[in-house]
Amino acid sequence: MLVLGVESSCDETSVAIFDGKNILSNVVLSQIDVHKQFGGVVPEVASRHHVRNVSIVFKEALERANVKATDIDLVAVTEGPGLIGSLLVGITAAKTFAMAYHKPIIGLNHLAGHIYANQIEGEMKFPLLALLVSGGNTELIIMKDHFDFEIIGETLDDAVGEAYDKVARVCGLPYPGGPAVDRLAKEGTPRYDLPRVMKYTDDYNFSFSGLKSSVINLVHNNEQRHEETNFNDLCASFQEAVVDTLTYKTKKAALAYGVKQVIIAGGVSANKGLRERLFEVFKDTDITVSVPPFKYCTDNAAMIACAGYYHYQKYHKTRELDINGLADMEL
Ligand code: KG4
Repeated sequence: MLVLGVESSCDETSVAIFDGKNILSNVVLSQIDVHKQFGGVVPEVASRHHVRNVSIVFKEALERANVKATDIDLVAVTEGPGLIGSLLVGITAAKTFAMAYHKPIIGLNHLAGHIYANQIEGEMKFPLLALLVSGGNTELIIMKDHFDFEIIGETLDDAVGEAYDKVARVCGLPYPGGPAVDRLAKEGTPRYDLPRVMKYTDDYNFSFSGLKSSVINLVHNNEQRHEETNFNDLCASFQEAVVDTLTYKTKKAALAYGVKQVIIAGGVSANKGLRERLFEVFKDTDITVSVPPFKYCTDNAAMIACAGYYHYQKYHKTRELDINGLADMEL
């Protein structure tokens, strides 16, 4: 079964082809360089670039996979959540392709896509606990089966990726901030004392806005006192506080729910500090840890094609051409 996945929820235009076992192609056209000058994604600019690129990306994905449009069995497209203008470009292209070649289509949740990045080269083992960490979400999710999501905890304010991006900005680092902070953290020592907000609360929720503000205040206070800030050490301290809190609560939840496996998903799952610590904290348990390959951590259509394949295997249901973009969409 050949699934063609389409992803355009933010600033990556991507089309991929999955045959149920392997990714035959995964073309990702990133707009990072376009948005860098603005310090973040400008939605209208993102939509226009998707329009410009989407046909090229479709063509390239089919060519690289060496398959014809008529060979495709199912079209899977990101339906939400995301930037509405960006979503609509991918959805319109996917529906046009499905209509022109008489192919069935399904709509998928972008966050489910991130989770299924773990199924591309690995095997999810249920029940599992997913730590979803992206620019817009920070959630702990229990999965007892494919497409069975129970959110047991989430951030009460900033998503962890958002906190990374704001900290990067105050440190003078370019957009997207997460990878830059991760890089500096590796060079520094976590010697600044930063709070572990909500680490020891009884629930599985998180809060990152206080930590982010502490970093911003520290930099501003040092500036006012004409004292130097060591940004490597500050990034290391921030990353340590984030990773410590995330892994502590993830382990607590994994043990309480008796899961077999812990997975991470979303853009921040590319964070080297988080990946290393996660393996470390579960070393003394029977719980296995799975992290997605780096190339499938940030937005891409391979994860959508893979999620589409498993969705169809479970439900055998397709949708009509009235699929629309959903800026907000629950898992
Ligand atoms: O999942 P994603 O690609 O987009 C959505 O939010 O849907 O995640 C993007 C977020 C950004 O905030 C980015 O700074 C962060 O993921 N990110 C990282 C790393 N790579 C990307 N954060 C920390 N460390 C990284 N290595």
